[in-house]
Amino acid sequence: MTRMHEDDLIIRPAQPEDETELAVLNRAAWSPLADVSPQPPEGDGVFDERHTPEQYLLALLDGRVVGYVRQVPPTPLASNRHVRQIQGLVVDGTARGRGVGRRLVEAACEAARAAGARRMTLRVLGWNAPARRLYEGCGFVVEGSLAEEFLIDGSYVDDVLMARSLAR
Ligand SMILES: CC(C)(COP(=O)(O)OP(=O)(O)OC[C@H]1O[C@@H](n2cnc3c(N)ncnc32)[C@H](O)[C@@H]1OP(=O)(O)O)[C@@H](O)C(=O)NCCC(=O)NCCS
Repeated sequence: MTRMHEDDLIIRPAQPEDETELAVLNRAAWSPLADVSPQPPEGDGVFDERHTPEQYLLALLDGRVVGYVRQVPPTPLASNRHVRQIQGLVVDGTARGRGVGRRLVEAACEAARAAGARRMTLRVLGWNAPARRLYEGCGFVVEGSLAEEFLIDGSYVDDVLMARSLAR
């Protein structure tokens, strides 16, 4: 497997103009391993009132968007302000296994920490072994599980809750 040189990868915040490239990536990477919603139709947008460009960090290799992570406050509550949640992580099939996903998760944690958050959470399907390994490698631990929370392609799948501290 080819590890990329650190300098080859650029991580930057998304801009409104990135929407088309993001939508293509999202649709191509859709899989029942990771997704609980149906595959988005061709031409569907990505950004709306709840999904805004500043929530996304993009990974670019050779000028091409090969991945993104989206992190948001899990609720609008002031009492919950110290928490961020990863709600979206995708790496293009052609760029997987080269450390892009790990760099995106680390960048999301760094951005959340810089914004004052002290805890990052996420939800991952029980059968999504690649993502669970990645999150574990980034310091996330399982805090709980919603048994058989989703019915996907005829199988009941657990929703696993993971979290890590952002304190140094
Ligand atoms: C999960 C995903 C983001 C991983 O991206 P990636 O760029 O391939 O991941 P990395 O190369 O950074 O791998 C980091 C670690 O993740 C784990 N990992 C990644 N792919 C794996 C695989 N196919 N099998 C097992 N572990 C895997 C490994 O622990 C790896 O560390 P290592 O290289 O030291 O062994 C990517 O497979 C993807 O986009 N999947 C579909 C969407 C998805 O599942 N998103 C998460 C939803 S919660």
